[in-house]
Amino acid sequence: MKTWSNNRICGLLGIDYPIIQGGMIYNSGAKLAAAVSAAGGLGLIGAGSMRPDLFGDQIRKARTLTDRDFGVNIPLLYPHSAECVEVALAEGVKIFFTSAGSPKKVIGPLKNAGCTAVHVVASPALAVKCQAAGCDAIVCEGFEAGGHNGRQEITTMVLVPECVAAVDIPVIAAGGIATGQQMAAALALGAVGVQIGSRFAVSVESSGHGLFKQAVVDAGPDDTHLVLKAHVPVRLLKNVFRDRITALEAAGAGRDELAAELGTGRARRGMLEGDLAEGELEIGQVSGLIDDIPTVAEIMDRLLNGFDEALAKLHPNT
Ligand SMILES: Cc1cc2nc3c(=O)[nH]c(=O)nc-3n(C[C@H](O)[C@H](O)[C@H](O)COP(=O)(O)O)c2cc1C
Repeated sequence: MKTWSNNRICGLLGIDYPIIQGGMIYNSGAKLAAAVSAAGGLGLIGAGSMRPDLFGDQIRKARTLTDRDFGVNIPLLYPHSAECVEVALAEGVKIFFTSAGSPKKVIGPLKNAGCTAVHVVASPALAVKCQAAGCDAIVCEGFEAGGHNGRQEITTMVLVPECVAAVDIPVIAAGGIATGQQMAAALALGAVGVQIGSRFAVSVESSGHGLFKQAVVDAGPDDTHLVLKAHVPVRLLKNVFRDRITALEAAGAGRDELAAELGTGRARRGMLEGDLAEGELEIGQVSGLIDDIPTVAEIMDRLLNGFDEALAKLHPNT
């Protein structure tokens, strides 16, 4: 198996393989993050669905599950985001992945505390702003990705080389990566690591509901669509709720009407409580390639073996 000792992301984050498990509301608690870090990648505890006290508990719990470093993902759009940053700093976390907002809000305190700061972007213009703000690396997340998404509709295949050309800091590719072959494609585009969400959401260690995981296993290649673009763009699996949103959008519904239909607590209902009809089922386009619910260790093995196989098969004359 390939060694990654000179990889820029492995060096920056102190990991064995340039594989990061993306923060995922209702899916990425201590158990998932610790399992990914223990397997040589970087696990992230996702603050997005946690109150600050639960977030602190999960950080402490992860420390009991692995000796390896893990990081946190803090979307910056929530009222409790600033408090979550404080909690993680107080707990001694050194690796911060932020998203959904400007990294300028937090970069000062993170750098003063000697932390590594990585921000998620969906356009080359934002990549340039992150570099100027002092981020150590960026995650370039394409339109295929699960969860909340940019409005730009730039796919990973196009976004990654555009960002690589635009900045000098390391670029991590995200969106549509669930196999070693896809990881090899991302690195061929100039990324030095990958952030993976959907594949890790459908693992034994993810805290998502079993019915949610099985629904992703059963999903086909065209079962996810990006909806709520006028409000909070999010890629969702087809269900009764999403059909209603799609019909409202087709009828020209505005932001307020969409927000009212969404209401509150739908992501929790879908992914944590397993309400497959009325909950939000956030998952990426790559769900069509996800056919089982393995352990994190198994997923990591498949990614690394698939990567090596992809390289061995690459030949200009085939
Ligand atoms: C269920 C789910 C929840 C997510 N929640 C978050 C989140 O809280 N914060 C964030 O920055 N990204 C979130 N994401 C995006 C992931 O971190 C990751 O960038 C994305 O899933 C990569 O695309 P992929 O799903 O094709 O692997 C979420 C993705 C999924 C599937």
